Amino acid sequence: MTQATFTATGHLVLDSNPIEPRTVRVAIAGCGVVGGDLVRLIRESASDVLTGDGVRLEIVSVLVRRPEIERGLPLSPELITSDVSRFQSASADIVVEAIGGTGVAREIVEDALARGARVVTANKALVARHGAELATLAARAGGRLDFEAAVGGGVPIVRSLRDSLSSSGVVALRGILNGTTNYILSRLAEGTPFDEALALARRLGFAEANPERDLNGSDAADKIAILSWLAFGIDPARLAVRTRGIVGTADRLAADAKAFGGVLRLVAEARAHSGGVTAAVEPTIVSADSELGRARDETNVVQVKTRWNGTVTTSGPGAGGRPTAAALLGDVRSAARPLAVGIAAGAVGSGRAEPETPPARWVVSIRRESGVGSELRAELRHTGVHADRLEIDSESGVIRALLDPAKWDRVDALETRLRRAGFDPVVSRYLV
Ligand SMILES: NC(=O)c1ccc[n+]([C@@H]2O[C@H](COP(=O)([O-])OP(=O)(O)OC[C@H]3O[C@@H](n4cnc5c(N)ncnc54)[C@H](OP(=O)(O)O)[C@@H]3O)[C@@H](O)[C@H]2O)c1
Repeated sequence: MTQATFTATGHLVLDSNPIEPRTVRVAIAGCGVVGGDLVRLIRESASDVLTGDGVRLEIVSVLVRRPEIERGLPLSPELITSDVSRFQSASADIVVEAIGGTGVAREIVEDALARGARVVTANKALVARHGAELATLAARAGGRLDFEAAVGGGVPIVRSLRDSLSSSGVVALRGILNGTTNYILSRLAEGTPFDEALALARRLGFAEANPERDLNGSDAADKIAILSWLAFGIDPARLAVRTRGIVGTADRLAADAKAFGGVLRLVAEARAHSGGVTAAVEPTIVSADSELGRARDETNVVQVKTRWNGTVTTSGPGAGGRPTAAALLGDVRSAARPLAVGIAAGAVGSGRAEPETPPARWVVSIRRESGVGSELRAELRHTGVHADRLEIDSESGVIRALLDPAKWDRVDALETRLRRAGFDPVVSRYLV
């Protein structure tokens, strides 16, 4: 291989003495949608990695639950195992975790970090719950933890927040962090029924086996907690994220969004203030031509508002095997470089997770046989929340109110009262 260096006078010198490529041993835990695509990508990009980094990535072990099934992957069968201790004894330099959850995945990550290995993971649940302690473990043992693929799929937000934006004075984050729900909401806006939209998302590999965590907002809550860690130094496990999803309400919320001239998105948000950090994931009505409104299908978007660098927006494919595998490979290559030391996330800072309730606008809708708005008006009066507009759709019996800015506790009180009175309310943020 030819090496290019610069002399002290700035002249480029090409050294024709070939440098022996280093072999870096990689073990991959989990070989499903993401892990399988990572295996393919490592094979396909072998010559790029060799030329670019002078590194040969050698897959030394692959852990799965069912070693007997045919995966159609360029892997010799003896590398595949379901035996965790055999996988661990492969003594890899880099361990990739693509299993998911906080069971075996955590065991594997802890073991690898404890022996000083570099760990790359796509697992947001693990990083959101145990990221701070895992980073400490990595620091103690001289290992490293990277998790670009855990947030935003192929959107390079983790590294940007940690490196480039860390000196820009980040004050707030807002974005679409769940590709599955965004795909489903995009289909609903076109008139596709919810069940059909979910089936399509599954077929395309965007929806995980059990999409509950996508639909109830927990997946996006984990991701905004991880980004809050990187942006504000808060322990993600301690951040209480106000979380509302679209389970059982997606069709109605989408209709409310249309009635008020916007489109529905599941928006995650976090902001720093003097008391700590406030974070939420909520169905939100946004204008169709806004950055969030234009993000369709599995696209993820992250807007980072900073003190010194304005608002920086990053977007791209937020789900699917290949984009996620590409993010994993980026971390693997970075960890394989000789000078790559340290840990991905800094130590946990002093940020506190104290919920504040910034006033926001909301749309509340109820269903009434009679289609009369007097009940909703009475409940609004009772809770001291004012409506800017009230619309009655007498055909469907839906009554919608666009509220003046109100804090969380007010709108929560209104929702509780409406629910108790049997009005079956749905609530969305309004950012149009
Ligand atoms: N899919 C996406 O679009 C996406 C996007 C971003 C991040 N992620 C994250 O990536 C990770 C993997 O997701 P995925 O969609 O690839 O999941 P998946 O298709 O269900 O793959 C999971 C893999 O883990 C293996 N596995 C499960 N339990 C195991 C156990 N107890 N012991 C050993 N192996 C076990 C499975 O083995 P078998 O194959 O034998 O069943 C399978 O190979 C998760 O953390 C997920 O949140 C996924």
